[in-house]
Amino acid sequence: MVPLEILEFPDPRLRTVAKPVTEVNGKIVNMADRMLETMYQASGIGLAATQVNFHQRLIVVDVSDNQDKPLILINPKIVATEGEFETNEGCLSIPGFYEPVDRFEKIQLEAIGRDGEPFTMEAEDLLAVCIQHEMDHLEGKLFVDYLSNAKRQLIRKKLQKLQKQRA
Ligand code: NI
Repeated sequence: MVPLEILEFPDPRLRTVAKPVTEVNGKIVNMADRMLETMYQASGIGLAATQVNFHQRLIVVDVSDNQDKPLILINPKIVATEGEFETNEGCLSIPGFYEPVDRFEKIQLEAIGRDGEPFTMEAEDLLAVCIQHEMDHLEGKLFVDYLSNAKRQLIRKKLQKLQKQRA
């Protein structure tokens, strides 16, 4: 499979707020499967539809060691949170940069699965962080938004330089 193109910061399309999925049809399932493939090929642990320029509320994650526990979340909504958890976060749209971000340690969420059925789940630690990070993408938000302006501008400049070299 040809992987989907992943948008990179500071691409303005990453700032798009995603719309709810109204029906889990073949198009959505196909997009979810392609996103998983793209994520695995890029050695990522999460990917939001926003990052592949598809602006509907769909994220995929897999934080398992063997990358064999894919999770597809459609219209995810956090309904309860607990604790705090800080980790160095990275992002396939901000390659090569890792910075500490504060998240909730535990979350409870509602979502719709690949089969179109709604479900609730709990997540903690890395999985919880990953889901929160991907859900931010659906709001047009990136992890660098939690950093200082100076740090975000520095990352922006460095990435733009690399993007120019590649072009
Ligand atoms: Ni990301």
